[in-house]
Amino acid sequence: MTTSQDRIIIFDTTLRDGEQSPGAALNIDEKLTIARQLSRLGVDVIEAGFPYSSPGDFEAVQKIAETVGVEGGPTICGLARTTRADIEAAGKAIKPAAKGRIHTFIATSDIHLAYKLKKTRAEVLEIAPEMVAYAKTFVDDVEFSPEDAGRSDPEFLYQVLEKAIAAGATTVNIPDTVGYTTPAEFGALIRGIKENVPNIDQAIISVHGHNDLGLAVANFLEAVKNGARQLECTINGIGERAGNAALEELVMALHVRRQYFNPFFGRPPESEAPLTNIDTHHIYKTSRLVSNLTGMFVQPNKAIVGANAFAHESGIHQDGVLKNKLTYEIMDAQLIGLTDNQIVLGKLSGRHAFQTRLKELGFELSEEDINKAFVKFKDLADKKKEITDWDLESIVNSEVRQPPELFRLELVQVTCGDRSHPTATVSIRTPDGEELTDAAIGTGPVDAVYKAINRVVNVPNDLIEFTVQSVTAGIDAIGEVTIRLRHEGRVYSGHAANTDIIVASAEAYVNALNRLYAALESGVEKIHPQQSQPAKV
Ligand code: KIV
Ligand code: ZN
Repeated sequence: MTTSQDRIIIFDTTLRDGEQSPGAALNIDEKLTIARQLSRLGVDVIEAGFPYSSPGDFEAVQKIAETVGVEGGPTICGLARTTRADIEAAGKAIKPAAKGRIHTFIATSDIHLAYKLKKTRAEVLEIAPEMVAYAKTFVDDVEFSPEDAGRSDPEFLYQVLEKAIAAGATTVNIPDTVGYTTPAEFGALIRGIKENVPNIDQAIISVHGHNDLGLAVANFLEAVKNGARQLECTINGIGERAGNAALEELVMALHVRRQYFNPFFGRPPESEAPLTNIDTHHIYKTSRLVSNLTGMFVQPNKAIVGANAFAHESGIHQDGVLKNKLTYEIMDAQLIGLTDNQIVLGKLSGRHAFQTRLKELGFELSEEDINKAFVKFKDLADKKKEITDWDLESIVNSEVRQPPELFRLELVQVTCGDRSHPTATVSIRTPDGEELTDAAIGTGPVDAVYKAINRVVNVPNDLIEFTVQSVTAGIDAIGEVTIRLRHEGRVYSGHAANTDIIVASAEAYVNALNRLYAALESGVEKIHPQQSQPAKV
């Protein structure tokens, strides 16, 4: 078999590598919501999780396979270390998908062999093909990754890849696991693989890379020029440490600069045929969804999806943009769905109009969730004259997509100002239905609220991040608060939106505490795919 690929396959790993970011843990419903949106975005493959890591991860991958991996939908992939138990779990979890894939990996760099795996090169040369062959007993589509390929001896890498392909790997993925390589080196690595692995034409070359030196996207684009045809990436670039290559940056680079990239695909430079299958109009919305649900804030100067990414949004260039957009813009904000924001609803809009617009925006909500969101919408419409699509999105993300409400904020009241001690009173309903009230003084109103909440909830934690962002411009805009807190070395995030940012801060905090409390209650420790040593092959 010969595999040729005339466009880029986008392999999204937001739900696997992205979810490995501290504090980004998602529940099953949140994973399903993101998977549905990734499908609308047009990704080719969704790496939905690491099924062996926990019963929750297994169930999430299985549900995504059932509901998103339908005929005509994306391929659903499960990660597995090269062990029978991992591969079996992945094989079972992806089974309901119309197109399923197992992605199995083992490290190949000497440093990983010596200190993590405690195995010899000869052992890895045996295990890799054996486990690829085992994965083939579950599904035809098998991807193999030599972890830390970026720091592996290329000659050894060629041997492992040849054996993996001979055993049936249909995709070989080359990870720069620690984000160490430079673009020229990474491009040369891919070229070396193309030239030195005798059966490489029987597999697609994929790349996976981390952003420790800020080079992941540049590395991938060099890899594309040298023959890589699958890119493993995440929305907003979230992922381990400094994150993964950002999907939106890769897709827009390939789109905006297609005249430059077309010849590497054997096309004339002027070809207008897209290089990926992504519907770019969904990029901004997907970015916001992932940011809200994972609690991973998007920096304002982030390429493509940051609040300042488009020149006309930042005052200094406005004059130039008005005269000719091209003076400071290389792409139209509309392309990523940024200007699709319309003022659609107001105080007098009824339930039907509200529900219809939510449907048009792609939200699939239950009757109960629509009712909840409608109450919030009416409340907002009393305070804010014009409700935009982004406001609606914010309502759904903060009202409906919440972790199970173990603690419920019933009341928050503050007094503050330059002549008073900021004081907060809160009432919270506990998981056993009791309403408790307490008060505290703080250095500011948010500090006072958090201290009062802590007096009631009584789970020690450190607040490590607090951000407020407005959803739209204007003094009456909704403020979105995202927080991250740490408890016993683990990070939990919370998100909430309200026109009153003190209330949003309190809700975001209770939201994070609910995630923390749910994790403590479940007592399930997830296995980390890379930082844990498999018990046996
Ligand atoms: O970074 C990495 O090497 C990975 C592998 C599991 C592909 O995430
Ligand atoms: Zn990774």
